[in-house]
Amino acid sequence: MVKYWEIETEIEKGYLYIMCGIVGYVGEKNVAEVLTKGLSSLEYRGYDSSGVALLADGKTKVYKAEGKLQNLKDLLATKESEIKTANVGIGHIRWATHGVPSIKNAHPHTCNCGKLAVVHNGIIENFKELRAKLEAKGCVFQSETDTETVAHLVAQKYNEVKDLKEAVRLATKELEGAYALCIIHQDVPNTIIATRRNAPLLIGVGEGENFAASDVPAIIEYTKKAIYLDDNQVAILKADSIQIFDADNNEVKQKVELLPWEPIALSKMGYKHFMLKEIHEQPDVIRNFLSGKLHSATEPIKLDEVKLDKLKLKNLNRIQVVACGTSLHAALVGKYIIEELCEIPVDVEASSEYIYRKTVTDEHTLVIGVSQSGETADTLTAVKQSKARGSHILIITNRPDSAMAREADSLVPVNAGIEVSVAATKSYVAQLMAFYALALHLAEIKESADKDEIQTIKNELLLLPQKIELLLSKTDKIQKCARMYSSSKNFIFIARGINYATALEGALKLKEISYINATGYPAGELKHGPIAMLDETLPVLSIMMSGKVYEKILSNAQESKARNARMIALTDSTDEKLDELFDYVLNVPHVHELISPIMAIVPLQLLAYHIAEFLGKDVDQPRNLAKSVTVE
Ligand code: AGP
Repeated sequence: MVKYWEIETEIEKGYLYIMCGIVGYVGEKNVAEVLTKGLSSLEYRGYDSSGVALLADGKTKVYKAEGKLQNLKDLLATKESEIKTANVGIGHIRWATHGVPSIKNAHPHTCNCGKLAVVHNGIIENFKELRAKLEAKGCVFQSETDTETVAHLVAQKYNEVKDLKEAVRLATKELEGAYALCIIHQDVPNTIIATRRNAPLLIGVGEGENFAASDVPAIIEYTKKAIYLDDNQVAILKADSIQIFDADNNEVKQKVELLPWEPIALSKMGYKHFMLKEIHEQPDVIRNFLSGKLHSATEPIKLDEVKLDKLKLKNLNRIQVVACGTSLHAALVGKYIIEELCEIPVDVEASSEYIYRKTVTDEHTLVIGVSQSGETADTLTAVKQSKARGSHILIITNRPDSAMAREADSLVPVNAGIEVSVAATKSYVAQLMAFYALALHLAEIKESADKDEIQTIKNELLLLPQKIELLLSKTDKIQKCARMYSSSKNFIFIARGINYATALEGALKLKEISYINATGYPAGELKHGPIAMLDETLPVLSIMMSGKVYEKILSNAQESKARNARMIALTDSTDEKLDELFDYVLNVPHVHELISPIMAIVPLQLLAYHIAEFLGKDVDQPRNLAKSVTVE
């Protein structure tokens, strides 16, 4: 593994690839079109350069472009006559963390004779040693990437064993680190060799055609049947056959799974951006989550996904939640609600911090990993570390087919449907729902909360979709507010109690897609420093949902008013006096305080969306970000 203290140096050298997307196709369709369409649907994984390699007219032909995928599409449009006979190909989109993305460093990479081409997602950690050995044997490197070592290494093995699958199997035994690889060779027509270790890769099973891809969206238009490769397995894909071998070269039985996605899930359905569509899907996401779990407030919540028996649940003395980004904010709400209802102490920690210190989880701790993608490397590592210490692992994820899900002792899929926009919205709401369900389930088993309160919360959860629909039907005021404040260079979000996480998440959404510097603070902390920044240019958005801290935050807002800040309120209160204190009041339907984070985040998602949209930003694919981050 790249050690944490080495990461910065690695990044400086441009060697770390946070996320990339891979597609492979063998069959009769227009190969370039299948590959670029597939890459298009993986753009959320990263998009600073792209490339394809095809076998056409008996030759390996490689095409690469810098920047957006459209540049590659434009290039391929000029090469139609060169590539029209192709019936096999591999493609890649790359997102590097540092250094100028270049054609030279874009994939596919080839061996020196140019016959073999490889696309790769992951990091080859021992690439320096391998490169030195290969150079000593006469290989000439064209790029600075770790991936090129794979091309030379496999080519060398192929020259020895004259069997491409065997060459890949032997070469990968020498690789350290993480990889998903697709490889073609001009002497092995109509064939892709695919393999993986600690990086996602699935095989799409078609009729007279087969696919390989980093993720479902790249293949769902063509097939709903897929095989998930295990670590170190090597697959031979031909148009009419798939064979899979384990690391010891034994052929293994294929487990074909039916993919739960519909192609329609990948369309914008008339919305200008995926993010806006996904925000509007939230009422259905809540309904979907509750179906089968909660039908009426008088029945106990059903959460069969939790596999700890009642006695163990009753005896739990600690919960540790690990997550990153938006998922971390969902965990903060989870902590609040579990501590409130279940009397179990809950620690929440950013996975990237958790994994590099001595943590004290054991078999009496429930460890919860939260992740939309289920592939976030830091969270995956944190979960694996806790599992090794004997803790029960509960995973809350939108991807029950992910690496993290495979580590779970208890798996709670949030079923938000595929989330394309890099900025998480509906998956956040779905994660919150999972925490509410878990807290209610624990409270009912432990009998730790007042029965009436539990019933009220359940009732409120059941009513929530309609209330959010009501909010989503009238967004003019949010849009106006967005236009009004879009020129601000900085933004402050303040809240208290259960909505502190909402302030953090609202600020994160704004930062991510509009690039405005936004910070969330616990409102009581304002006067301990941040208040020094306030003046007539700085918008302070106070999240004031009714409940026990409402009056407190009102006073904190008054402190901001006294420093001439630009005042915005987000509230479910109908108090007319608020119009005197605030320049803008964004109203939401009234909800129970404990449920309020789900209601309060929606206008903040919309505010961030409309500001970014008004500023003409790339809403669904903000700069420098990738949808999931699969290396530490
Ligand atoms: C959310 O808008 C962000 N793109 C990001 O913070 C994300 O939540 C984080 O990278 C964690 O991803 P995960 O939920 O897939 O683990």
